[in-house]
Amino acid sequence: MYYIGVDLGTSAVKLLLMDQDGAICKIVSREYPIYFPHPGWSQQDPKDWWEQTVLGIRELTEDVDKSQVAGISFGGQMHGLVILDEEDEVIRPALLWNDGRTYEECDYLNEVIGKKKLSEYTANIAFTGFTAPKILWVKNKEPENFARIKKIMLPKDYIAYRLTGVHCTDVSDASGMLLFDVKNRKWSQQMCEICGITTDQLATCYESYECVGTLLPEVAKLLGLPETVKVAAGAGDNAAAAVGTGTVGDGRCNISLGTSGTIFISSKKFGVDGNNALHSFAHADGSYHLMGCMLSAASCNKWWMDDILGTSDYAAQQEAIGKLGENHVYFLPYLMGERSPHNDPNARATFIGMTMDTTRADMTQAVLEGVAFALRDSLEVAKSLGIHLERTKICGGGAKSPLWRKIIANVLNLKVDVLESEEGPAMGGAMLAAVACGEYASVEEIASKVVKVVETVEPDPGLVQKYEGRYAQFCKIYPACKPVFDIIH
Ligand code: XUL
Repeated sequence: MYYIGVDLGTSAVKLLLMDQDGAICKIVSREYPIYFPHPGWSQQDPKDWWEQTVLGIRELTEDVDKSQVAGISFGGQMHGLVILDEEDEVIRPALLWNDGRTYEECDYLNEVIGKKKLSEYTANIAFTGFTAPKILWVKNKEPENFARIKKIMLPKDYIAYRLTGVHCTDVSDASGMLLFDVKNRKWSQQMCEICGITTDQLATCYESYECVGTLLPEVAKLLGLPETVKVAAGAGDNAAAAVGTGTVGDGRCNISLGTSGTIFISSKKFGVDGNNALHSFAHADGSYHLMGCMLSAASCNKWWMDDILGTSDYAAQQEAIGKLGENHVYFLPYLMGERSPHNDPNARATFIGMTMDTTRADMTQAVLEGVAFALRDSLEVAKSLGIHLERTKICGGGAKSPLWRKIIANVLNLKVDVLESEEGPAMGGAMLAAVACGEYASVEEIASKVVKVVETVEPDPGLVQKYEGRYAQFCKIYPACKPVFDIIH
């Protein structure tokens, strides 16, 4: 049997075909546009997601016996607001997870409703990217659109809806809406009241590995797949990536270097960071996790390479990088503001420390290091909660770079386990589909059987020490720049 994992990302949808033993048979990727109508805003058209997913599934399955495809599931970019009207038509472009326009609504939620109450209701506080502030933004700024809302959905759930006709979501993605009582895995009545919506406007919430339905007959025809194909709820991309990298059970870690950068720590027990700097979300394996999320990670390198240096040969640029741990140039990676741990939509990216002998390679290195230092910021929060980690998995497009993996291992002083494929969320989606179809008894079982580490990057004590000093300097830059960020946005 075959299982399809759909990773509905920010720059592209990545699709993966897995057989019942966990072998990856094919990977396909299809891009779609992202719109930045104002600095700090970001939007996409859900119809683009759907069209590219359909084309992607057809391409993915073109060479296999389609009658053997048993299940489809997802990892999806989190927090995005998709609103549908009475006819299930999309009302306006989706506001994405890295959209910073909702700072007034966040101030209202965090200061007027109060962080204490938000944390009590949802285990989290408001961040501009989260879904509830977006709902309030539509209510305040586009009341005519707000009045038309029949259903509120997350990005991957829109695809599940188009495939099955079912309005569904899953516990991990629902956790990032600030409308979900994470501990008890159910919608929060209080938060719905605060946002002026009812639970009827939200989707039915499933565990990630549960089946929500089968393909609609017309969709099965469109895709050339059997109507019996089961669709499982799937997970937010980080929880799906955690499944795909075997980051399930207690105390495991995964770092994702995608458009965003995350550090994800699985936990059997529900827990909240007292300062809410790390998110406390439900996991796709039936348990919980803590997560720090930086808004621009591999996207910093993509921006630097594609838009500034004007090259697509990233590896060639990295080859010119000489010594690690001695760079005088620093880069704050806040191209879209920052979430964890600063929660500052006004933060901006900055190079600092250049001199007349600074080279292009120093600046490329500073970009890679800046992302690693910012991930370390979230790791430090986890450490302050008494969490001790020795190793991490790694996934996402940035994880393809051996140099970046080495920098991460040494800046974070963690052993970095590299897997066969860096397609974490798509692999996790396919694995969740296999569990939903009964091929494996649980997420933990499939993770223990199919995830394979191919290499481990060990931190080098000398380099770790050098990076300690550099990190201490990096930590001083954001507080020094903050007063400027507050006036230049
Ligand atoms: C997580 C987050 C991002 C997106 C990226 O909280 O906002 O990692 O899920 O797709």
